Formats: sequence, structure tokens, C-alpha cells
Amino acid sequence: MEEKIAYTPRVRPEDAARIRRWHEHAYQALREEGARERSFSYLGRTLLVPPGVQPITGMSHLLGEAVLAEVRPGDRVLDMGTGSGVNAVLAAATAAYVLAVDVNPAAVAAARRNAERNGVTIDVRESDVFSAVEGEFDLIVFDPPFRWFAPRDLTEAAITDANYRALTAFFHGVRRHLASGGRLLVFFGTSGDLEYLRELARARPVSWPRSWRDGSWSGTAGGSNTTRT
Ligand SMILES: C[S@@+](CC[C@H](N)C(=O)[O-])C[C@H]1O[C@@H](n2cnc3c(N)ncnc32)[C@H](O)[C@@H]1O
Repeated sequence: MEEKIAYTPRVRPEDAARIRRWHEHAYQALREEGARERSFSYLGRTLLVPPGVQPITGMSHLLGEAVLAEVRPGDRVLDMGTGSGVNAVLAAATAAYVLAVDVNPAAVAAARRNAERNGVTIDVRESDVFSAVEGEFDLIVFDPPFRWFAPRDLTEAAITDANYRALTAFFHGVRRHLASGGRLLVFFGTSGDLEYLRELARARPVSWPRSWRDGSWSGTAGGSNTTRT
């Protein structure tokens, strides 16, 4: 029987307050900058990001480059929380099959359009974590909302996940969807509760971690990889 983890912040109260202030600033910037559709040139692709969908950021390339380095021909890839479809589009150039899912209908529509625009085939579905996912995958990519506060709308739900419900459900369900020898690529940041992420990963039977830094993997090899911002 797998242990369930209920979330309480592992960060110190003063750090939580600092992250809360930082988050508010990030959210207001997202709302202002994301009020209209934007076009991004990114790792050789062009992506259109409509209002309410997570944009490409100055950090996105850290995960994008890790996806390009990790995906292998023949892989079945799951992109959890696909947003604009950015990592699914990158993986689809090499993988045999890519499923991209997101809880936000605007993200699902954007990912479909971005796949077409970039000439790749991706299966895109609306899904609350694994609710519309079946089968096993060789590579699962997840760039989750980093914070744990309650979101006020879908724009904010791209960057915060109330009490880490989705992140927790992801780690509880991921073993069922990882093929034997499958790899997990999770992106996380220091504006999130890193200690909670570590606990989730330790409680799940995945090996932990390698880090992607400066264009290569470092640390002990295993079934679970992490990039950090
Ligand atoms: C930080 S954004 C990452 C978007 C994209 N993967 C990228 O790298 O730009 C997190 C994404 O997770 C999605 N998400 C949040 N909660 C989810 C859930 N319960 N199930 C599926 N996707 C979810 C959000 O809608 C958002 O698109």
C-alpha cells in the first residue's frame, strides 16, 4: 500500500511569506503580459500562446533542451500540463507517439494549433492529471505549477496548485503510467516547496535524481530526472 502525503508547507513561514509576495508580482505580470495572444520563436519552433495559457519564459529553454536531449526514437511520451504544447512539440520530432494533456481547455486548443503549425502529430486531451490518460510511456515530462496557493483563475492555475493537489496526484499515479525503464523529467523551481517535491519523489518508487545543468545531465543516473530553476 502506497503512503499518501497530505500537504503542509515545509518551507519556513518567513520564506512562505516571501514566496507569496513574489508570486503576486509574477501573477500580475502574467495577466498584463498575457492579455493578448503572443508569438514566440523558441528552439527552432514558432509557438502562439493565447491569453490564459502559460507563455514561454526565460527559463523554458532549460526544460526544452532537456527534453530534446532525453527523447529517443520509438519513445511513447506523455507531456503532463502541456500548456502551449511546447515540450510536446519538441518531443514529437523524435518520439513515436506523444500525448499532451492539460486541465485548461485554452491550453488544449493552443497545443493542438501549435502542433499543426510546427508540422508534428500530437494527441492532445483535456485531463485533470491522469484522468484522461491510459497506457504506459517511456518518457513523462511535467512542468507543474510551482506554488501551493489557491489559484484565482486558469491563468494563475498555470503557476500555482492549491495545496499541491495536482503535484501530489501526479506522483501518486505516475508509476502506473511509466513503462519498464521509463524516465521521468520534472521541472521545478526555488519559488516552490522543494522539500515537499523531494518527499513525494522519495515516497514513490522512482530513483532520484539527475540534474540538467549547462547542457548535460549530472548526478546519479536513475529513473527520475529533475531540472531546477
Ligand atoms: C507551469 S505551466 C507549464 C506549461 C508548459 N508545459 C510549459 O512548459 O510551458 C503548468 C501547466 O500545468 C497545467 N495544469 C495545472 N493543473 C493541472 C492538472 N490538475 N492537470 C493537468 N494539467 C494541469 C496548467 O494548466 C499549465 O498549463
